[in-house]
Amino acid sequence: MLESLHNTEQQALSELQQAVDSAAMKEWRSRHLGKESTLMQNLGSLGSLPAAERPEIGRRANEIRRALEAAYQERSDELSSTSEAAPATTLDVTLPGRPVKQGRLHIATQTLRRIYAIWAEMGFQVYRSQDLETDEYNFELLNIPAHHPARDMWDTFHTNTPGIILRTHTSPGQIHAMRAYCPESIRVILPGMCYRYEQITARSEIQFNQVEGLAVGKNIRFTDLKGTLSDFARRMFGESTGTRFRASHFPFTEPSAEMDIECFLCAGKGCSVCKHTCWLEILGCGMVHPTVLQNGGYDPREFTGFAFGMGPERIAMLKYGIEDIRYFWGNDLRFLEQF
Ligand code: FA5
Repeated sequence: MLESLHNTEQQALSELQQAVDSAAMKEWRSRHLGKESTLMQNLGSLGSLPAAERPEIGRRANEIRRALEAAYQERSDELSSTSEAAPATTLDVTLPGRPVKQGRLHIATQTLRRIYAIWAEMGFQVYRSQDLETDEYNFELLNIPAHHPARDMWDTFHTNTPGIILRTHTSPGQIHAMRAYCPESIRVILPGMCYRYEQITARSEIQFNQVEGLAVGKNIRFTDLKGTLSDFARRMFGESTGTRFRASHFPFTEPSAEMDIECFLCAGKGCSVCKHTCWLEILGCGMVHPTVLQNGGYDPREFTGFAFGMGPERIAMLKYGIEDIRYFWGNDLRFLEQF
């Protein structure tokens, strides 16, 4: 009798694993735990057994009933959790469609594309160079020798390979472009990511875009630089945008300047963005230093040129009134979806 009970239990447990839906579960329950089941029949006929066998067989039969009840419950839970996770097998084609969210260009990309378009209209081609640079291109060929204090302007990320760094600005691209074009004249912009080991603040990131510009040819003068950059500002910020040039210093340009535009947010009244000066700085620029021209392969007695470098994120901040540069790479959709 005990052996037959054991076989009944094993058979029931094995069949339970075959049950895959609620109908099969119902059928299993009635077959193994219902009134007509072998187990219940055995429990009902305990009285006909010899008195000495009754207690043990009764205890074992009740044990098996509880075990089957528990196994049934466990299998039901398992099936309901998998049916929740599983995709619906039927497709109701009459349901309204779910709207597909449209992606959009990142605000930095939008600004970059606007900048490319403006410079393309003015005859400047895009020239790309690499993010990993040598110390030689990033500094030395730009008239910034090792240990020169000017290096402090560009806090640098070094790699494990001596002499290989992440470019701190797009200016090393000037040398690549000059060496590629020499002795032809040049009109290029050089966009790209730059990296600086700086304190991250509302205005400064450790990774940001720059767009460099370079024009090399015969008889290029400072007035060409001023006219071209002022034209860029009017195309970017509006026809009536005023500009001014302030003397500055970059080792690779001489003379050097920074260009400010009139604050279009307060229109001369003074605001927190322009720090009540009514001017906003947008780029650094200057006439290419003769040493740099020479390093690029040009004879500085014959050729001159101008160069500039601007930060598209800072330009977008001004244009759209964005108060913190950290929003650009923070990946917050509430910010990104505004543009
Ligand atoms: C330069 O990097 C020069 N190479 C620019 C240049 C090129 C001058 C050619 C003359 C001739 P500067 O460090 O000022 O200069 O950076 C240029 C622009 O990059 C800044 O005006 C700003 O818009 C942007 N920029 C600089 N540092 C950061 C930063 N940490 N986060 C975001 N934008 C930055």
